[in-house]
Amino acid sequence: MFNKLAEERRSIRNFTDQLVEREKVDKIIEAALRSPSGRGARPWHFIVVTDEVMREKLSAARPGGGGFVKNASVAIVVCGDPSVSRLWVEDCTIAAVTMQYAVVSLGLGSRWFNIRGNNCKDGLTSSDYIAELLDLPESLDVQCIIAIGYPGEEVIPYKKEELHYDKVSYNRYGQKDA
Ligand SMILES: Cc1cc2nc3c(=O)[nH]c(=O)nc-3n(C[C@H](O)[C@H](O)[C@H](O)COP(=O)(O)O)c2cc1C
Repeated sequence: MFNKLAEERRSIRNFTDQLVEREKVDKIIEAALRSPSGRGARPWHFIVVTDEVMREKLSAARPGGGGFVKNASVAIVVCGDPSVSRLWVEDCTIAAVTMQYAVVSLGLGSRWFNIRGNNCKDGLTSSDYIAELLDLPESLDVQCIIAIGYPGEEVIPYKKEELHYDKVSYNRYGQKDA
């Protein structure tokens, strides 16, 4: 049941040393490749990074806060091709979030490391830094990195009372009952 996955999904930044099996990575990628996209353009490209040295370099794409990318077992770099679709940001976002739910269904955890719109150092964008690191073609822009691994911390689902039902209206803004 999807709602159970939605309940269980929380972002984590601590992972155990256990490696994520190749079959699980394949399932995550397959789920992402099945994502909806505007006009079916599928403007995404995914780079699966398991190499530890490379993950460490990826974690430095933005100053501060990327340590969890290094410590995860797998980092999936989500790129999009703006020349293929003007909706590449939406499409890549949906694919990335699809990965995050697939992750939960496989007993794993994840966290999004945002790249798009960020700077690395000395006027170099985070996306350009990664493009150089991973030999990306010039047409691609980097949206985010999804860090994945076996959970090294307990995550507690939000209680139903914590959900922002006050932001939900029926038929017109502010109308509270269906
Ligand atoms: C668009 C987006 C960008 C995010 N960027 C980062 C990030 O750069 N670093 C990070 O640690 N977490 C990032 N996150 C994870 C959020 O911090 C996390 O989803 C939020 O705190 C809510 O927690 P939850 O996912 O456990 O519900 C991002 C999430 C989204 C959806």
